[in-house]
Amino acid sequence: MLAAAAAILAEAGQPEVLRFWPRLSEGERRSLAAAVEQLDPAELRDHCRAAARAAALPPGHEPGPHSGPQTLQPLPPGVVGSAARAQPAELNRWRERGLQEIGEGRVAVLLLAGGQGTRLGVPYPKGMYDVGLPSGKTLYQIQAERIHRVRTLAAERTGRPCPLPWYIMTSEFTLGPTQSFFSQHGYFGLPQADVVMFEQRMLPAVGFDGKVIMEGMGRIAMAPDGNGGLYRALTDHGILDDMERRGVCEVHVYCVDNILVKMADPVFIGFCVERGADCGAKVVGKAYPTEPVGLVVCRGDGIYQVVEYSEVEVGATMQRRNPDGQLTFNAGNICNHFLTVAFLKAVAGEFEAQLKPHVALKKVPYVDEDGNCVKPEKPNGIKMEKFVFDVFQFSKNFAVWEVLREDEFSPLKNAESVGAKDTASTARRALLWQHYRWALQAGAHFLDHSNNRMPACTQLRETDDPPVVCEISPLISSAGEGLEERVKGREFHPPLLLTE
Ligand code: UD1
Repeated sequence: MLAAAAAILAEAGQPEVLRFWPRLSEGERRSLAAAVEQLDPAELRDHCRAAARAAALPPGHEPGPHSGPQTLQPLPPGVVGSAARAQPAELNRWRERGLQEIGEGRVAVLLLAGGQGTRLGVPYPKGMYDVGLPSGKTLYQIQAERIHRVRTLAAERTGRPCPLPWYIMTSEFTLGPTQSFFSQHGYFGLPQADVVMFEQRMLPAVGFDGKVIMEGMGRIAMAPDGNGGLYRALTDHGILDDMERRGVCEVHVYCVDNILVKMADPVFIGFCVERGADCGAKVVGKAYPTEPVGLVVCRGDGIYQVVEYSEVEVGATMQRRNPDGQLTFNAGNICNHFLTVAFLKAVAGEFEAQLKPHVALKKVPYVDEDGNCVKPEKPNGIKMEKFVFDVFQFSKNFAVWEVLREDEFSPLKNAESVGAKDTASTARRALLWQHYRWALQAGAHFLDHSNNRMPACTQLRETDDPPVVCEISPLISSAGEGLEERVKGREFHPPLLLTE
């Protein structure tokens, strides 16, 4: 056991990982040896060297995939479709096309749920978070019910049951609790065979000296390899083969924390399919110049990419304005991507190795030489992550679909505190405002305590609750459709909970 681990670490230049070996229990030794045997020595050596090189640069100059001279340009209008500017007939055509694709079993949804949710600060996966809706539904439940609804809508088109597989990428941190949560809730009524969980890889955190950080005497500090770890994980777990077996051709990839996410959004899918896109991204206009969202941009040579908000060189770019006062770079990435299976296969087979990791300086808890756990106050280590959108550069036909924030984007990122943005409260409000608007559009009236009809108020104010509480189950409407038969011309005393 010791000899095998020692050989791997010697080859990787990391023998210090075993420095506490004499002080470990038998169980700790076994688990450390098992963790080391998972590591590829050459990869570990390169990973640590790259981290050490990044650490040696002046702060703010860590190399990223997009560092170096570049000519970023806004997206050319030709690649962008807009929900606000499209004609109703076009929207309808794309919706029908998307539902047809879904109904024929050509579409899957893929959730990126391997993140640690550090900013939110809860010890369980973000998808299990209850933002305080009247129904008490968690993000996972809302997403599952939206899948149900899309399956129903698509099945109505084709006249036969619609499979819509849901792939969920987890990590060592999120797999166990996510599996138990789904199992406790009976997979929210979805066929278990259509919910496929798989795990992304982990990478060691590395100190500025290029040495692997130990978080315990027998434990290496490991972190998921970024949401771009998706592409290796797809190969590791035979997910692309599974998709092909099921006849899936297009995948809607999304991140876990957006309470307004439209699962397998038929309009987005129809739009991308009609354009013959192999890869696409949904965007929103930014709420304010420094909003922490990535920017979808074009490089001078007609290649598309996302420049992440955390990457320093973006500073001036974020603030730049056109003569008319509009932000020059305004295509905010909401982590909703369209990828064809053919494109995913090309990435997995050919391009993955070209994806360069992004470097982040982090405070990584570690164990000191006396065996005490230390929580550093300053960054002491480097984590390297790949990003899911870094494959855009390989797209041969890229499409961008611009949507309205109030319809599609309200992420849960941060813990509640005064003035904090993207919290449980802002997510809950965004959803309740949306459902209130849908009810009004479908012809509902709300009554006050004296039985008088309340005036309609549709002016969303981020910081206020809507005038009445109205929550609509995703099982009966995924985008405001189908509500008239239930509410038109009717009067309701709030709160209104519309369920199936
Ligand atoms: C992400 C986008 C950002 C976008 C923003 C919108 C990336 C890299 N950045 O930023 O451009 O503007 O969402 O809300 O996509 N995840 C994994 N494995 C990991 C790390 C993350 O599956 O190793 C998942 C998370 O669980 C989450 C998603 O990826 O569902 C986004 O990750 P997160 O770290 O929250 O990215 P943001 O910084 O919010």
